[in-house]
Amino acid sequence: MAEKTLQTVLNRLYAADVPEKADIEYTLSIKDAAQTAELFAFADEIRQRHVGDGILLRGIVEFSNRCDNSCKYCGLNKTNVNLKRYKLTDRQILNCVEQVANAGIGTVVLQSGEQADLDSDWLAGIIREIKTRFDIAVTLSVGEKYCQDYALWKEAGADRYLLKIETTNRQLYQNLHPQMALDNRLRCSKDLKTLGYQNGSGNIIGLPDQTIGDIADDILFFARERFDMIGIGPFIPHPATALSDCPPSDVEMVLKTIAVTRIITKDSHLPATTAIGSVNGNDYRPDALMAGANVLMPNFTPLPYRQLYEIYPGKRCSTEAPGTCGPCIDMMANAIGRTIDLSRGDSLKKKRKECA
Ligand code: 5AD
Ligand code: FES
Repeated sequence: MAEKTLQTVLNRLYAADVPEKADIEYTLSIKDAAQTAELFAFADEIRQRHVGDGILLRGIVEFSNRCDNSCKYCGLNKTNVNLKRYKLTDRQILNCVEQVANAGIGTVVLQSGEQADLDSDWLAGIIREIKTRFDIAVTLSVGEKYCQDYALWKEAGADRYLLKIETTNRQLYQNLHPQMALDNRLRCSKDLKTLGYQNGSGNIIGLPDQTIGDIADDILFFARERFDMIGIGPFIPHPATALSDCPPSDVEMVLKTIAVTRIITKDSHLPATTAIGSVNGNDYRPDALMAGANVLMPNFTPLPYRQLYEIYPGKRCSTEAPGTCGPCIDMMANAIGRTIDLSRGDSLKKKRKECA
């Protein structure tokens, strides 16, 4: 029988082409403080080896909180009629991007709720304008779309796309997104990869009824699909959703998931998500950065709109003015002996030729 000490399991996870689900589950199940510290130290070492000490920054601009979906966990879901909806003007969006560029940050993320009537040509125009005026990588995060839309935006100059799978458990996915289909999300992700986007996925940890086996399956999915970026965050119950009474995620499980994902995927970009900076008023982003993460996403959405992009309550940096995040992030990096890397931070994955 294969030996099961934590070090052997971690080494096996690191060395394997296709890791064993049982090894992932074993690692996610550890509770002992010394063992957890051992896991985080191992992941931190792999992070150092494969992506270095620089913390990459992505300036995020949440340009609209309008959403046609009804994800059961998300405060932006369309049944939340009390939320004031907004969409930034072209000028506001470009001003935000200018602030990201002026801060020297090499990537801007344009994010919004998911809207069927999002004008694809309009967004292509914004991307073109950004690419003409600024030397900056553009990441889009506007949900499930047709392949033609993704192609149009790629042609306009978009570099990357974030579309988290949220959970790979089919039943759980269906319960949480009654009007959506996991297969369409997978189709979108495939299209994005085929079109040559640097491709982002991710999941939510601590969803009601989610098991350790489900999280292990998510990690195996991330590894199999060789995502360039993987955002892993805790579930935080929002009062205006169907899941308002569910308990929030166990932070330790989020950190363990980040650590195992780092060990297995090696050079993927893993953000210390804003959500992990927002659990019960505590900021666990430094912990995530010491457990395998290498990216931070400072918020450049202007006030008062930033407060209206309330995916979950207590979202970090909701009330601070844009620009406040810079010094805060510098301090965070210093405190943990890391540096800030302002470069574009493109994918480190070597592109494989996909077979037809
Ligand atoms: N708690 C944590 N994360 C959430 N998201 C949406 N709602 C919640 C919540 N209640 C995450 C999803 C989505 C991202 C923008 O925010 O993963 O992809
Ligand atoms: Fe808007 Fe899910 S509620 S994308």
